[in-house]
Amino acid sequence: MTTATAQDLLEWYDIHARTMPWRVPPAARAAGVRPDPYHIWMSEVMLQQTTVAAVRDYFLRFTARWPTVADLAAAEDAEVMGEWAGLGYYARARNLLKCARAVVSDHGGQFPDTLAGLLSLPGVGPYTAAAVASIAFDRPETVVDGNVERVMARLHDVHTPLPAAKPALTALAAALTPATRPGDYAQAVMDLGATICTPRSPACGICPWRGPCAARLAGTAPELPKKTPKKPKPTRLGIAYVARRSDGAYLLERRPDRGLLGGMLGWPGSDWAEEIAPHVPPLEADWQTLSAEARHTFTHFHLILQVRVTDVGLNAVPRTGDFLPPEVFRPSDLPTVMRKAFDLARSHFA
Ligand code: ADE
Repeated sequence: MTTATAQDLLEWYDIHARTMPWRVPPAARAAGVRPDPYHIWMSEVMLQQTTVAAVRDYFLRFTARWPTVADLAAAEDAEVMGEWAGLGYYARARNLLKCARAVVSDHGGQFPDTLAGLLSLPGVGPYTAAAVASIAFDRPETVVDGNVERVMARLHDVHTPLPAAKPALTALAAALTPATRPGDYAQAVMDLGATICTPRSPACGICPWRGPCAARLAGTAPELPKKTPKKPKPTRLGIAYVARRSDGAYLLERRPDRGLLGGMLGWPGSDWAEEIAPHVPPLEADWQTLSAEARHTFTHFHLILQVRVTDVGLNAVPRTGDFLPPEVFRPSDLPTVMRKAFDLARSHFA
């Protein structure tokens, strides 16, 4: 069996690198073009828990609206939360803004170019710091995401289940990280995991590491990495109240910064619990319950939201929230679960 080398993977990447709007292709990189650290940072924050396909348009919209980190730092919180709507894991958007402001106020608008410097930024953890240090600044840091874990588990035929195997897989990844072209290398391992060393039916026959791959030799590649079974997700129930005023305004509230969907716009309603939690409707009105419910799955639970709707007059006084007129309320500012509730309510009002 041969030894896996970064060089073999880099030669594959030179030909097969995926095109991404934030990425500098290997040939341009070799010619001295450097990636924009702001672009790399933003893409890596967006890519956590999210696919490249889903991120692409968000990345393009964000960078068109806020071309530099200083532009982003100067944005209103609500604008950024609205632009992030639909991407999920909203703490990332709050941290994005915090981090942009710290880069401007504490670093003169320039991202730090070392792992330690990047780790000192708010909301930047080991993954993002390593990704930006290597991809944007060509530091030999080790980037470990789900793709890299899978590639390393197979290359070395590691049968320890995740998450327990994570430190061992990280050490194996670190041992392979080269001193030359570490940024391209980090992207190459992730591309390999995303396109060849895929979770199901890996394309081992065309893999640049087919020679040294221990799992290919053992015939275990498709079953790796092993994973410790997750607990089944519980289901929670809640009620969302969608009130439409006769001028077309909707009653909405901004959720508190902390907690699920923190900082996002949403419909007033009950807490989400095993049973419908006791609560007071946001408005004294004749509420009608829709027969269809909004269903959504979060990281730790499934949610079933009952949707109640009402039409009210101009003098309605809400207990909570504010009526947002049509020229202010953009349905696209809503997180997905609230958008689902809105789409049900809208077909009722139509
Ligand atoms: N997934 C997350 N970051 C990535 C990157 N920089 N290249 C390819 N896939 C990725």
